[in-house]
Amino acid sequence: MPEMIDVRSDTVTRPTPAMLQAMMAAEVGDDVFGEDPTVQRLQQRAAELFGMEAALFCPSGTMTNQIAIRVHTRPGDEVICDELAHIYLYEGGGIAANSGASVRLLKGDRGRFTAEQVRQHINPREEVHAAWSRLVAIENTVNKGGGACWDLAEIRRIRAVCEEHGLALHLDGARLFNALVARDESPKDYGCLFDTISICLSKGLGAPVGSLLLGSREIIAKAHRYRKMMGGGMRQAGYLAAAGLYALDHHVQRLREDHEKARTIERELRALSYVADVLPVETNIVIFSLVDGLSPTRFLEKLRSHGVRASSMGGQTIRFVLHLNVSNEQVGSIVETLRKADVAASA
Ligand SMILES: Cc1ncc(COP(=O)(O)O)c(C=O)c1O
Repeated sequence: MPEMIDVRSDTVTRPTPAMLQAMMAAEVGDDVFGEDPTVQRLQQRAAELFGMEAALFCPSGTMTNQIAIRVHTRPGDEVICDELAHIYLYEGGGIAANSGASVRLLKGDRGRFTAEQVRQHINPREEVHAAWSRLVAIENTVNKGGGACWDLAEIRRIRAVCEEHGLALHLDGARLFNALVARDESPKDYGCLFDTISICLSKGLGAPVGSLLLGSREIIAKAHRYRKMMGGGMRQAGYLAAAGLYALDHHVQRLREDHEKARTIERELRALSYVADVLPVETNIVIFSLVDGLSPTRFLEKLRSHGVRASSMGGQTIRFVLHLNVSNEQVGSIVETLRKADVAASA
């Protein structure tokens, strides 16, 4: 039985032997005492990369997002984000539970809204009945939007609206590096536009654990306190930070390979009669929908019986996420599997 090809997410990757070696060689200390030199190196490196003042290493992207929302808002405030946003859909209601804030959802194009939409949904401060709009949150790439990338010019316009109305701007950049390589942009293009940025090392970059929150010294000092409150202080975390440093050095440019693999699968899907629609592939995520009558559960079972694990995104939609543990040969096997007649059988 050949090894399962797992395209459920880019979070399923295992550290490469070279990454493991870097982890084993890490110099560590107790990071809750601020004594882990490798964590400090990672935080400094990331802050410099984005041209921001400081960074905080956290166990997960959910935690970096939730800490950022906590820092920017007070109970009763409102967060403006897209209806597809991970912070809204997939963080356990954390915006309400951790920050006591409510959410104003925008309907964007695959998760990307416009500055004008933001402007139209800001509650005036003098309106006593309304929640105070306090924070705008963007996700790049948009996971549920099929890895869609934002247009930097639109983000600049949103920044201007935020400044005009005294709103903070947060970026859920769990897959920001995918957007950067796809669009030939630099981290500094983003660092100058956001009050806080969350980046994940544990997705396409292939580290086993870890995310970073970036911001000003003042914001990161507050974030440090909330990380403690949420139980996210880690002790000899340098072993994990070393994986993150290795990923930043070696795994950024290779994301292009994942994008190419995703495009190969997209091309195949577009030729298949049982596929109703495919979101245009921009990065490493492929989201497509099955024609009515074809059960997604059954389809996923069939794929699995042929050695491919994928996931459902609700309704008729299926998601494939390409990553460093899927070889070109395995992409070929996925294509062959998709062509098999029984995969498309509804019974
Ligand atoms: C866009 C986005 N933001 C945040 C997260 C949360 O990351 P974590 O699983 O590390 O909490 C994810 C996870 O898949 C994600 O896709």
